[in-house]
Amino acid sequence: MTALVEVKGLDKAFGGVHAVEGVSFAVEAGQVYSVIGPNGAGKTTLFNLITGLYIPTKGEIRLNGESTARLEPNQLAERGMCRTFQQMQICMNMTAIENVMLGRHLQLKSNLFTTLFRLPSLRRDEESAHRRAAELMEYVGCGQYVGAEASAMSYGALKRLEIARALAAEPKVILLDEPAAGLNATETAALEDLIRKIADQGITVMLVEHDMKLVMGISDRLLVLDHGRVLAEGTPEEIRQNPDVIAAYLGG
Ligand SMILES: Nc1ncnc2c1ncn2[C@@H]1O[C@H](COP(=O)(O)OP(=O)(O)O)[C@@H](O)[C@H]1O
Ligand SMILES: [Mg+2]
Repeated sequence: MTALVEVKGLDKAFGGVHAVEGVSFAVEAGQVYSVIGPNGAGKTTLFNLITGLYIPTKGEIRLNGESTARLEPNQLAERGMCRTFQQMQICMNMTAIENVMLGRHLQLKSNLFTTLFRLPSLRRDEESAHRRAAELMEYVGCGQYVGAEASAMSYGALKRLEIARALAAEPKVILLDEPAAGLNATETAALEDLIRKIADQGITVMLVEHDMKLVMGISDRLLVLDHGRVLAEGTPEEIRQNPDVIAAYLGG
């Protein structure tokens, strides 16, 4: 069986800093796959490589068996890969729903021809994009903000809005970089439910998260990074019992 996301011998160096070094792993379709490790371990860099924001120094990445080398982030989104950011990227001078529609925009079929000659079809696209965006806001639990400016939303709601925007492109795999950062216990529990709901729908989830209770409870497998290298890989149970992990990370 072809893995949905396959990473082989991946390296990324910034000058003398090896942010990611010799990293290999595979994510099967339908899994919740988490990447953990201390700050500076290379988790965000790994996500930036997988989503095409960074070009690897070495190694390869495959999405559904296809090499992603030379594919831009939007081309990867067209192939079903979407993400959220550790530093939230929401346009605060737009409405909440416009932010979600931005995510969908990627897959709108409109090209220059339809724009010029088929305005009614374009308008239909916009209407359905709006309807779908409202549905997704409901789905992630910020339905009450459908008519609101993004700037009127709480931090926790904005984190969920960003997930709705990623879902708007109807992804096969969604990468979430620290979605629980800054959330309180109630919001974190709601986020856990949301991630389960997304996974139950058949969307593969890749997760970077520091909240061990959340990560251990929700993941099928985990990758532990330390100084850019793989310290361990396995099921939550295997990771919990791994002596290297206990010594370097969980034990501390
Ligand atoms: N764009 C960049 N330029 C230079 N160094 C970077 C860049 N991005 C990340 N790094 C470095 O790579 C290492 C890993 O960072 P990062 O991937 O953000 O770690 P994490 O997300 O695990 O906290 C750090 O030493 C960081 O300073
Ligand atoms: Mg990070």
